[in-house]
Formats: sequence, structure tokens, C-alpha cells
Amino acid sequence: MIFFFSCFLLSYIFIAGMNLKLKYGNTALVAGASEGIGAAFATFLAAEGIDLVLVARRPEQLKELADSLENKFRVNVRFISCDLSDTKAAGQIEEILNGRQIDLLVYNAALSYIGPFIKNSIEDMSHATQVNMITPLNLVYYYAEKMLTRGRGAVILMSSLAGFQGSGYLSVYAATKAFNRILAESLWYEWKDNGVDVIACCAGATLTPGYKNTHPEKTGLFTPRVLQPDQVVKECFKKLGKQPSHITGRGNRMASFIMQKIIPRKMAINIMGDTTRKMYRL
Ligand SMILES: NC(=O)c1ccc[n+]([C@@H]2O[C@H](COP(=O)([O-])OP(=O)(O)OC[C@H]3O[C@@H](n4cnc5c(N)ncnc54)[C@H](OP(=O)(O)O)[C@@H]3O)[C@@H](O)[C@H]2O)c1
Repeated sequence: MIFFFSCFLLSYIFIAGMNLKLKYGNTALVAGASEGIGAAFATFLAAEGIDLVLVARRPEQLKELADSLENKFRVNVRFISCDLSDTKAAGQIEEILNGRQIDLLVYNAALSYIGPFIKNSIEDMSHATQVNMITPLNLVYYYAEKMLTRGRGAVILMSSLAGFQGSGYLSVYAATKAFNRILAESLWYEWKDNGVDVIACCAGATLTPGYKNTHPEKTGLFTPRVLQPDQVVKECFKKLGKQPSHITGRGNRMASFIMQKIIPRKMAINIMGDTTRKMYRL
């Protein structure tokens, strides 16, 4: 009796726990994987025994990460050096992978330009829309169609609290992040009964090289705590398959609740713009 109960308990823990490989399949593609949150996604997935395709521009960074994940977790890791702002990027990745099955797609790469809209060049802002919206749209369209045919798979799109309301001095970045969230939430609804889980992972300030390079200034006592990349990833996988989108970090959820539900939208937009202006001394 005890034996059967233990077997039942163990299999319950095994299935109910995050066995991503069993649920979704063997291979994940992480776009924007060379550092920061993307590298944390890759590490988390490798620890789950999932083979990886890592995409970013810098081949040395990708190789170093691929080697270390292969050695540590005994998974197969391949990398593709590719500029996701290229209009042909998604096609190049699909061609290089030559029909290889992708079971989980994580689109993490993003470009952001901080500062007055009119001071950024239109070329830079167009690149941001390509990296942040068009390339993920193409990759999701291509790989999710195959996931739907198989009846299983997962898509994670990285979004940001900046995309919840107008965010002065982050205008184009914020608009692209709103796109990701709305796209993921919409697809969550469309595919929830077809075995393909979709989530928008909405992060607040997270301690990554990209974030540090912007040299933000602390703005006040009530600014939510900066999270570590692995915390963001862990929370995201906890909510995958359960929610269409998730705000990482309790402080961020609380701040977002106040901004979206308590105060008028105009005030929220003003707070966001003022905070960014102070943070970056604009
Ligand atoms: N960090 C935060 O505070 C924060 C807050 C909210 C939301 N987020 C979101 O979280 C995601 C990751 O942020 P992060 O801070 O980890 O970013 P990051 O440190 O700047 O890393 C971005 C990753 O994307 C790759 N990448 C950037 N541009 C690319 C391009 N044109 N082609 C190919 N790869 C490219 C980078 O690699 P290469 O340079 O090698 O190409 C890197 O691996 C983003 O979607 C961001 O919007 C971050």
C-alpha cells in the first residue's frame, strides 16, 4: 500500500512539476540568448535536459555559453550568429535549421533607444521594430504552425512594464513591448485548447548587461527592486500554460496594479515619463 502510494506521489510530483521536456518536447530556440535574461532562459532549459538552438549576433559569447551548457547539462547546443534586425533573419534561421523541430520558442532579443523620440534616427527606430516585433512575428508564425499540427509546444515572448502605458523617452521600445504582450495574450486564447502554451513575460528592471549599460540612476525609495535574470525566468516557467501574461516580481506586480487599476491613465503616463527622465537625466 505504502509502495503504491509512494509511486503515485512520485509520478504526481514528476508530472505536475515543471517537466518541460515531457510536456513540450526536446528542443528550444532562444533568440537573444548570448547574455542577460536570454542566457538565463537557455540555462534553465538546459537544466531541464532540453537541447538548444541559441541565436544572437556575437558568436564568441554564444560559443562560450553553448560549450558551458553542453558540459554542465549534457545537452546538445547549437548556435546561430544572426542579426535579428535583418529583414531576412527569420528566413535565415529557418533555412539553417533545415526543418529541425522546435518545441519551445523563446523570443527574448530586443533593441531599445532611450531619449527624445525626435533625437533617435528613424533607421535605429526601424531596426528596433524589426528586432522587437517583425522577426518574432515571423518566427512565431513559422514554428507555431508546426507546433499546432503536432498538438504541443510553447511560445514565450518577452515584454516589459514599459509597454503597459505610454512611456515617454522610451516611446518606440514601449510600443513594441505592448505589441509583444498583446500578441502573446491573443495567441494564448486562440491556442489554449490546441496544446500550444503562449505567455508574455513582462519584466520590470532586471540586472542584465543591457540594463547596466544604460547606467540608470536610482529614482526613489519606492522604485521596485531590480530582479536577477534567473528569477524572471523561473517565474515565467511557473506561469507558462496557466496565464496569458505574467509580470515578474511582487514589487513590479504591485506597482503595475497601482498604475493600471488605481490611478488615472494620464497620471500613470506622467509618472512613467518623469521616472525615465530622472533615471536617465534627460
Ligand atoms: N533588463 C531589463 O531591465 C528588462 C526590463 C523589461 C523587459 N526586458 C526585456 O527582456 C529582454 C531581455 O533583456 P536583457 O536586458 O536581457 O537584454 P540584453 O542584456 O541587452 O540582451 C539582449 C540579448 O539579445 C541579443 N540581441 C540584441 N539585439 C540583437 C540583434 N539585433 N540580433 C540578434 N540578437 C540581438 C543580445 O545579443 P548580441 O548582442 O550578442 O546580439 C543579447 O543576447 C528584452 O526583450 C527586454 O525588452 C528587460
